[in-house]
Amino acid sequence: MTTSDDAKLAAEEAAEAAAAAEEAAEAARKKADELAQAAAAAHQQEATAAVEPEPVVEPVEAAASTSSTPASDIVEIVKAGYAFEGPALVIGALVDGDAVPDAQVRIPLGMLNRHGLVAGATGTGKTKTLQVLAEQVAAQGVPVFAADIKGDLSGIASPGVANDKLTARSESIGQDWQPTATPTEFFTLGGLGTGVPIRASVETFGPLLLSKVLGLNETQESSLNLVFHYAREAGQPLVDLGDLRSLLTYLTGDGKAALKELGGLSSATAGVILRELIAFADEGADVFFGQPEISTSDFLRTTPDGKGIVSLLEVPSVQDKPALFSTFLMHLLAQLFRELPEIGDTDKPKLVFFFDEAHLLFKDASKDFLEQVAQTVRLIRSKGVGVFFVTHTPKDVPSDVLEQLGSRIQHQLRAHTPDAAKALKTTVSTYPHTSYDLEEVLTQLSIGEAIVTVMNEKGAPSPVAWTRVRAPLGSMEPTPAAQIEANVSASSLLAKYGTAVNPESATEMIDANKPAATTEEKVEEYSDRWADEINKRSRRGRGRARSSTSRQSPLDRAAGEAGRTLARELVKKLFRRR
Ligand SMILES: Nc1ncnc2c1ncn2[C@@H]1O[C@H](COP(=O)(O)OP(=O)(O)O)[C@@H](O)[C@H]1O
Ligand SMILES: [Mg+2]
Repeated sequence: MTTSDDAKLAAEEAAEAAAAAEEAAEAARKKADELAQAAAAAHQQEATAAVEPEPVVEPVEAAASTSSTPASDIVEIVKAGYAFEGPALVIGALVDGDAVPDAQVRIPLGMLNRHGLVAGATGTGKTKTLQVLAEQVAAQGVPVFAADIKGDLSGIASPGVANDKLTARSESIGQDWQPTATPTEFFTLGGLGTGVPIRASVETFGPLLLSKVLGLNETQESSLNLVFHYAREAGQPLVDLGDLRSLLTYLTGDGKAALKELGGLSSATAGVILRELIAFADEGADVFFGQPEISTSDFLRTTPDGKGIVSLLEVPSVQDKPALFSTFLMHLLAQLFRELPEIGDTDKPKLVFFFDEAHLLFKDASKDFLEQVAQTVRLIRSKGVGVFFVTHTPKDVPSDVLEQLGSRIQHQLRAHTPDAAKALKTTVSTYPHTSYDLEEVLTQLSIGEAIVTVMNEKGAPSPVAWTRVRAPLGSMEPTPAAQIEANVSASSLLAKYGTAVNPESATEMIDANKPAATTEEKVEEYSDRWADEINKRSRRGRGRARSSTSRQSPLDRAAGEAGRTLARELVKKLFRRR
């Protein structure tokens, strides 16, 4: 961490401490007022003159200057600090030794667009917390978008199953637990797996995000920018990866003159981008790009009886492409931002977007990319979209994004390594002032418990509360595959997005401008294309057969190459015989 970061943190800490002290003073003032009133009443009974609230001074100073609140006071502080007037989601009940069912810890529905963070070590309850929040958001009529990376959120679509442990837990925290399924629409990236396919056209995805997934450096990123610019000027739509590949091939070959006009784009850089692009497509990424692309209005749907629909992006099939997956989520968020109208702060958001495994988004990101994320998060609030990042520690999130996250739900952190201990210290420093010894408490939380602070209805941080989180009403086990399949085949969105289409775009336009090929060239081209197609299909077949990982082994690749050569020769022979 740099010194300026340290200074910033210290300043933030000081500001937070001041705010908390003020809050404590306010609470004490209230109490003192009550005491004074009681005293006044007693005095009046004795028919003496009303006393000015003299005792005020003492308790205020005492409360404001002391850093440790008596344990029993936390109950009153939490009750008062979370007594919101408008509709709210219940996170769980305060833990004060044991759970305190009448001290409920909540988030105002109208403050969800002030964003939030769910953090904690693996297995500490982040995904279940996400499910608890998403279920209640949907139940209050607000649509939800969430990514399901390990397939463990799909249970939201099925009613939960009671057991003794669950019943005991929900009783201890004052939760009236009823098994409930939440209406869910399953999506997949590019149709890999079971769900309505989500695609993006290369053009809308844009050079910045594409550079992130291709792993380009900043020079290459600005070169790719120029290529997109060229395509727009030339009226050649970039729809799929093939279009970009055709354009780059053209610019480094027949179109060298055009490349020269694009000041700043060297043929060598264009060549590097082309190679990265080919490797990327070879990994199977081409299916994520193209048309029809998803219209974000389809994430904003409610059921006829007014429940929000959960759009669940199932991504177990792209686990080995974390950069692609997280960048795609960012793309969807940026799309929402572009397409939604400005509505300012309302009593209820339009959509809540849960960004799981968020650390993947920020890892190895360029400065421009991080700026875009921070800006999107900042501005999307006034479009009524709340974003909840889910990750291991707040340290995973850049500070200019972190400072915009109004609510914190921090599950257990471990401090076994120096790095983890440092992450713990940083986490503690991002909390408002509290009587808890957070460094201690954060390592002691049980699974399904968290340290919570939210943005209250006035936009100020609520008191920090050790909270036992509610149990999800949906299943904690994944929804069975057959049920997801039935859900998807019944989806009304399948007609719109089920099949990829290939419109007239850059590839066709560049091809149309080429001089007529000789018969021999045509035979070569066709046999190549067919060989590619045959190879792709057999590879996909093999990819499906393998369940968890779809990365090609060297052996597979060699077999693929051999198959391709064989197919090419075969097709050539067939053509020549005619
Ligand atoms: N709120 C909760 N209510 C009941 N059980 C929970 C809760 N949170 C976590 N658990 C238990 O802990 C396990 C791990 O939680 P999970 O949310 O998957 O952790 P993470 O996402 O942090 O890896 C769950 O499978 C469940 O058994
Ligand atoms: Mg999880």
